Amino acid sequence: MQIAIVIICILVIVVGFMYQWSLFATRAPFVEIPKEVLDDIVKAMDVGPGDVVYDLGSGDGRVLEACYHRRPEARYIGIDKALVPNVVAKWRLRKIPKGKIELLHKNFFKYDLSGATCVYVYLFPGLLKSLLPKLQRELKLGARIVSCDFEFEGVEPIEVVDLKRPKGKRGRRLYVYELK
Ligand SMILES: C[S@@+](CC[C@H](N)C(=O)[O-])C[C@H]1O[C@@H](n2cnc3c(N)ncnc32)[C@H](O)[C@@H]1O
Repeated sequence: MQIAIVIICILVIVVGFMYQWSLFATRAPFVEIPKEVLDDIVKAMDVGPGDVVYDLGSGDGRVLEACYHRRPEARYIGIDKALVPNVVAKWRLRKIPKGKIELLHKNFFKYDLSGATCVYVYLFPGLLKSLLPKLQRELKLGARIVSCDFEFEGVEPIEVVDLKRPKGKRGRRLYVYELK
């Protein structure tokens, strides 16, 4: 019994430490998007059967999961450099057929995104600013980008979706971009 308590305490400390580390190591810690806005995100992403969809900073994988249920023919790749969300995502999506949603424990700045036709991000403005040149360099013309709550500075969205949520809540706006 005492051993079990010690093991649980160690596990709690390790997971807590890893979570805290993810707050420092990333400029956008793991904060998941509320479930109520998932349908709107899926709609804004407008995934077609041949699309290759990336969630950059995929957290617990909920956005890719929602997209997959609407459009299972597409390919989905989530990238997150924090270990805890990546492990949680793998556990949450374990029942989805193998190969449909890949979850990579990587830094998206070091990953070639040229295969993406549709990208979703929920990241702070500073990170979006650093990411924009990479997206402009690597994505093909016409690629669709959906950013939740934060805009890419200096780029005109083709659509801004107001999700009509109260001030202070997450998931209030979606900015939709198409690469020109
Ligand atoms: C605000 S959460 C978004 C989670 C999920 N996309 C959602 O909408 O629910 C941002 C995620 O980005 C990840 N992240 C931040 N910088 C990253 C990087 N350079 N490479 C990979 N993941 C990163 C963090 O670990 C965090 O899980």
